[in-house]
Amino acid sequence: MEMHPPNGVRLRVLVVDDEPTYAELVVAELRHVGFAVEWEIVESEEAYLDALARSPDLVLSDYALPRLGGERALELLRQHGPEIPFIAVTGTIGEDATVTLMSGGAVDYLTKDGPADLGPSVARCLTVWQLRREQRESKKEYRDLFEQVPIGLYRATPDGRIVDANAALCEMLGYPDRESILGVNAGDRYADSADGARWLAQIELAGVVLGHETRMTRRDGAVIWTRDTARAVRGDDGATAYYDGAMEDITPRKEAEAALQRQLSRLASLRTVDLAITGSLDARVTLSVLLDQVTMQLGADGADILLFEPESATLTRTAARGLVAGGHSANGWTAGPVAPGLAARAAAGSRLVTIGDVATDPDARIDQAALQAYGVAAYFAMPLLAKGQVKGVLEVLHRRPFLPDEEWREFLEALAAQAAIAIDNAVLFGDLQRSNAELVRAYDTTLEGWARALDLRDKETEGHTQRVTELAVRLARAVGLAGAELVHFRRGALLHDVGKIGIPDAILSKQGRLSEEERAVMRLHPKYADDLLAPIEYLRPARAIPYCHHEKWDGTGYPRGLRGEEIPLAARIFAIVDVWDALLSDRPYRRRWPIERVRRYIAARAGSHFDPAIADVALRLLPHDA
Ligand code: C2E
Ligand code: SIN
Ligand code: SIN
Ligand code: FE
Ligand code: FE
Repeated sequence: MEMHPPNGVRLRVLVVDDEPTYAELVVAELRHVGFAVEWEIVESEEAYLDALARSPDLVLSDYALPRLGGERALELLRQHGPEIPFIAVTGTIGEDATVTLMSGGAVDYLTKDGPADLGPSVARCLTVWQLRREQRESKKEYRDLFEQVPIGLYRATPDGRIVDANAALCEMLGYPDRESILGVNAGDRYADSADGARWLAQIELAGVVLGHETRMTRRDGAVIWTRDTARAVRGDDGATAYYDGAMEDITPRKEAEAALQRQLSRLASLRTVDLAITGSLDARVTLSVLLDQVTMQLGADGADILLFEPESATLTRTAARGLVAGGHSANGWTAGPVAPGLAARAAAGSRLVTIGDVATDPDARIDQAALQAYGVAAYFAMPLLAKGQVKGVLEVLHRRPFLPDEEWREFLEALAAQAAIAIDNAVLFGDLQRSNAELVRAYDTTLEGWARALDLRDKETEGHTQRVTELAVRLARAVGLAGAELVHFRRGALLHDVGKIGIPDAILSKQGRLSEEERAVMRLHPKYADDLLAPIEYLRPARAIPYCHHEKWDGTGYPRGLRGEEIPLAARIFAIVDVWDALLSDRPYRRRWPIERVRRYIAARAGSHFDPAIADVALRLLPHDA
């Protein structure tokens, strides 16, 4: 570094010493190199503090003094005038003083018996000090930036303790100031502590985590969504010294996303109902699809659809879900409304009846006992209107008091409009009006024809269902079924996938693998089958296969996750044949498998997917080649 001569720059020197000899020497040298020096000498703490208040340009202090030592002088300087350079003056090089004072913040030290050119030496010290001050000032600028950026910035120890934080972070996490947040463990603020641990592990491993989105708990307990980018700062030994991170509050974005997601999901569900209306053979399936959407999308604990019969002016339950699902009598849908008075009011007035809290709403009084018997705390009755006429009523039930918002109400109206269309469809209406006895006759004569129609829709090869049924009946016999059991088994096998009529074509005939959502819809087919078959007395004992053929021995199947012998025997037998035949058939999304591979597949899943005892019998019975 090049030294510039001071050229008359004024320099006020404060000397801490008990005798002036050495100071005079230094001052003379400083004048010699061009400073215009003024100086004073102090010996006591009081005089020193007074002099500091006048802001000298330089403090020269003897190390060892009876009244005011160098260390104390430096400490007082840092308390009262930190921006003034301090040069320690000691007896000999190597005195402890140099170490203590230099590490305490002294700019330099001079020795009393030291070099002749004290002046340049002091000038050099002052230049070094000047540079340090500039550094400090630029640090201060960064600090100001750190404090003022509108993003939460922090530094944390490897175990998560916050050791520095800016105002934005404090505000985000609900702390009044920096002091109150220091020492707080960031890990404890994670709403999901497992996620907090994962975050720490990931940053430790990768060194940096970009845009981690998680929920944090503010000091006041409120939960916010945050987006965090952090890096591990490693020490020379490679170990993490601390984490530096930037965190944003993304709660508004997350809320907007969730609202959008809800909208999309509701749109999709309206579409699903549309597809069910146009694609179904039976209105019961459409209404069943619709009630699935009502309970899923409206967050309801139960719902039913009541059909209005104008001649008798009665409301008859036609389909039901959740809280009210067990409410129909054994021979069909004969039960009335959950809340007869309120449902009638909705039908008569052609308007939505809203009971946010059954316990306190005076309007609930007429049906309070009935509602409470069903465990209903909030109740909604929506009239189903088509061409200006009441076709029925949709009852929506909640276990807890509930005040719907505008969005909820709009969606309920959209679903109600669709329910009304489904009911108004003359053909479907005929289906619903048909007595169970007629249905039994109709199914009795057309069961096998229906199965063929199902094959066609499922793009199955000619005779697939017949073939599966014959094979399944052989296996059932080998397992020991006989007589009436076998008759029911046969009917159940023929109808095993009847619930697929509730599945939109777009999913059923998809050329590729199903997405998660599509798979979820597909998995409703056993439930639809049950809804369809439940009212038909004649097919009641045959329901086990359609309803339970996708349950698995280890409990990982659907729709109910039954396990082992909880799964009806007929369904355990049929499941093996279903998979056997499926894998031996071309599907729009894959070619048929060779027989050996299918045998291996079934053998490998005996005891997990399949009942192991039945799988044994099946593998003996099923062919070894085509
Ligand atoms: P499905 O084709 O009659 O198949 C009946 C069962 O056989 C399936 O039940 C599954 O256990 C087994 N299976 C059929 N194909 C395969 C296969 O390629 N690999 C394996 N490991 N197992 C197979 P799952 O899985 O519950 O499926 C029920 C129905 O859902 C199927 O009846 C089919 O109609 C449909 N489905 C399932 N996955 C897809 C898919 O990726 N794409 C399409 N388009 N439809 C699918
Ligand atoms: C599957 O589990 O669906 C894939 C089996 C395969 O095609 O090998
Ligand atoms: C196969 O060979 O792909 C069937 C065997 C199995 O998946 O367990
Ligand atoms: Fe199936
Ligand atoms: Fe099948």
